[in-house]
Amino acid sequence: MNILFATSEIYPLAKTGGLADVSGALPAALRKLGMDVRVLIPGYPKVLAALPDKTPLASLELPVHGALRLHGAAMPDSSVPLIVIEHPGYFDRHGGPYQDITGHDWPDNHLRFGLLSAVAALLGSTASPLHWPVDIVHCNDWQTGLTPAYLHHGSARPAATLMTIHNLAYQGIFPPHTLTELGLPPASFSIEGLEYYGNLSFLKAGLYYADHISTVSPSYAEEIQHDALGFGMQGLLQHRRAQLTGIVNGIDTDDWNPASDPHLCRHYHPGRMSGKAAVKRLLQAEHGLTRSNDTPLFGVISRMTHQKGQDLLLAIAPQLIEEGVQIMVLGSGDAMLETRLRQLAAEYPAQVGVVIGYDEGLAHRIEAGADIFLMPSRFEPCGLNQMYSQRYGTPPVVRRTGGLADTVTDTTSASLADGSATGFMFDEATPAAFLAAVRRALACYHNPRQWSRIKKNAMARDFSWETSARHYQGLYQSMLAG
Ligand code: ADP
Ligand code: GLC
Repeated sequence: MNILFATSEIYPLAKTGGLADVSGALPAALRKLGMDVRVLIPGYPKVLAALPDKTPLASLELPVHGALRLHGAAMPDSSVPLIVIEHPGYFDRHGGPYQDITGHDWPDNHLRFGLLSAVAALLGSTASPLHWPVDIVHCNDWQTGLTPAYLHHGSARPAATLMTIHNLAYQGIFPPHTLTELGLPPASFSIEGLEYYGNLSFLKAGLYYADHISTVSPSYAEEIQHDALGFGMQGLLQHRRAQLTGIVNGIDTDDWNPASDPHLCRHYHPGRMSGKAAVKRLLQAEHGLTRSNDTPLFGVISRMTHQKGQDLLLAIAPQLIEEGVQIMVLGSGDAMLETRLRQLAAEYPAQVGVVIGYDEGLAHRIEAGADIFLMPSRFEPCGLNQMYSQRYGTPPVVRRTGGLADTVTDTTSASLADGSATGFMFDEATPAAFLAAVRRALACYHNPRQWSRIKKNAMARDFSWETSARHYQGLYQSMLAG
């Protein structure tokens, strides 16, 4: 089975969030199951620089976009085959995949990701310049959402398409005049097509035209069919529910392994946990927190957006700090949240550490060094950090939503008794409900036997990609059979 996996980010070459982690790991896991999966990715400067051994695959000239080249290369470490789009006018820029260094969206994102979608569609058709017939184009998020529309409206025989939603909040919405620029037929600009309240929506195009839709957890697949979390797409998703599947993400258990993690000063595993305390002490020392083994240390790693609910953390932090706990936060995003977090750290330097920015190594050290991980997301399609934290023996406190609900087991007398308890959950997105769950976690923390059981349960959970990859394999097979 030949699968073209089209994505706008891939760890470690280009990453803004969990999509990169998935793109970096799922194709490799699928290849282990015997499928020929290749990843299509834009040639951002860091991508091209990381692949010195790339070889030319094709030179193309596309209407509107002009000249571009496709290169073949092997992903460093996993050796998954990559197909890289070199288009200097679109991708050779100083900044992130979607935004410039000041945080503004690139003004021509519709063209940049229109091109990514168009190339994916071309490779997924019989007009492909590569001698590699594609069975399924697997699209990810709005950046590749136009692919199913191009294939639907194209003339060459199309591959089947799977549209995976990693986050419905980002939809790629552009003004109507971009339609002709993107080479899409006027007839597609309709409710029965890619029109969305008078604009063109890349994601809606994917959701409307793809043969099948998936998202990254079963709970989120259900939630997005309703008003609260449907972001305007609930009607379409309800209508397509027979072709909508939720498959929970895995994690890269080699990159995220407390027994061998190169970012940690000491390693540990369930049979020998002393290394975790050493990582905690160093984390405290490095960020000016009082060095104390007995003080509960909360960890947070997050994009700072409304989605992630860090305003709830800010609401309960003063009370928790009053009670003597420590909090270590890593993240960036909303300027107001960043400022309030910095202020908190300035006010309580011995108890609160805040690093604004992106730091892969520190993310690993927080997962390992914290005692309890906090993830009060308002919605969470899957979420990876709560899985990393369980693997690192750092039970998470999470909201019961999306992938958090599917990957954490709340601690109750029953789940303690049957050995399934791995964390703590709350329902309402309110400070009071969050605080109550944090207090439950603290009560367990102060009961060493109970705490060690919860940590062991969490570390024993299997979050490896293999299980998820088998689900995708089954889905691909059923798409081709149907
Ligand atoms: P999302 O993709 O919505 O941001 P996920 O939990 O799926 O949420 O994935 C987030 C990924 O990004 C994780 O790998 C997490 O460790 C990482 N991450 C988020 N913020 C930072 C940061 N400031 N520094 C380092 N890693 C971060
Ligand atoms: C998105 C979601 C996150 C998910 C990730 C990877 O960024 O916000 O919940 O884990 O995609 O699928």
